[in-house]
Amino acid sequence: MDHDARAALFDSTAEHYDEDTFHARVAEELVAPLPPEPDLVLDVATGTGFAAYAALRLKPSRVLAVDLSPAMVAQATAKAAELDPSGLITWQVGPAVPMPVEDHSADVVLCASSLHFLGAVAFADWLRVLRPGGRLAFSVVSGMRFKPSRPFEAFVPKDITFPTDEAEAAALAKGFVDVSAQTFTAGSRTVFVVHATAPVNGAAKRP
Ligand SMILES: C[S@@+](CC[C@H](N)C(=O)[O-])C[C@H]1O[C@@H](n2cnc3c(N)ncnc32)[C@H](O)[C@@H]1O
Repeated sequence: MDHDARAALFDSTAEHYDEDTFHARVAEELVAPLPPEPDLVLDVATGTGFAAYAALRLKPSRVLAVDLSPAMVAQATAKAAELDPSGLITWQVGPAVPMPVEDHSADVVLCASSLHFLGAVAFADWLRVLRPGGRLAFSVVSGMRFKPSRPFEAFVPKDITFPTDEAEAAALAKGFVDVSAQTFTAGSRTVFVVHATAPVNGAAKRP
């Protein structure tokens, strides 16, 4: 995986990224049903930080937000004084798979609008980092509609089949339990929003 080329491509989108409100709305959908007061929340491929900032409403102890693109993270941190005055979010530039945390250390993993750049390999890492009973929330593009533009095409992973319905979206979360998927549509864009729980001895334990 050419991280430098990928980071450069996303760097070029950073300045105007927040003008598109769709991603912010997806991030809110991911966070909305999660239980309050988690310890560690991870935002995987945070971009300009929509999901990391949305997670603050859960009143977490801390959030770690990771992204390959320095310019995307710069856009995220530029909002920190206003949106995260207590400094709960740690921003890190680098690959988000694997996430740079200990095994079973996270209460929540968020991955908003990014799975189509990470691939199915991410799920094994999310099972690694989540504590038993920890919660996963991710969005995934619809296979019916997803057509990456030319420069992004090269970075779409081959190890994942993009779902065409909610059942297929839920089936992506292999190894998780209590999996649910909902269709989220705004304007002409549709994604699936999936929530799941890391297993506890094969059964879900709710926090
Ligand atoms: C469409 S943006 C989504 C950003 C953000 N999560 C959101 O909801 O708006 C995709 C992000 O994935 C990041 N990305 C792609 N591949 C990555 C990787 N392997 N590790 C970390 N970040 C990655 C890009 O830099 C970009 O910021």
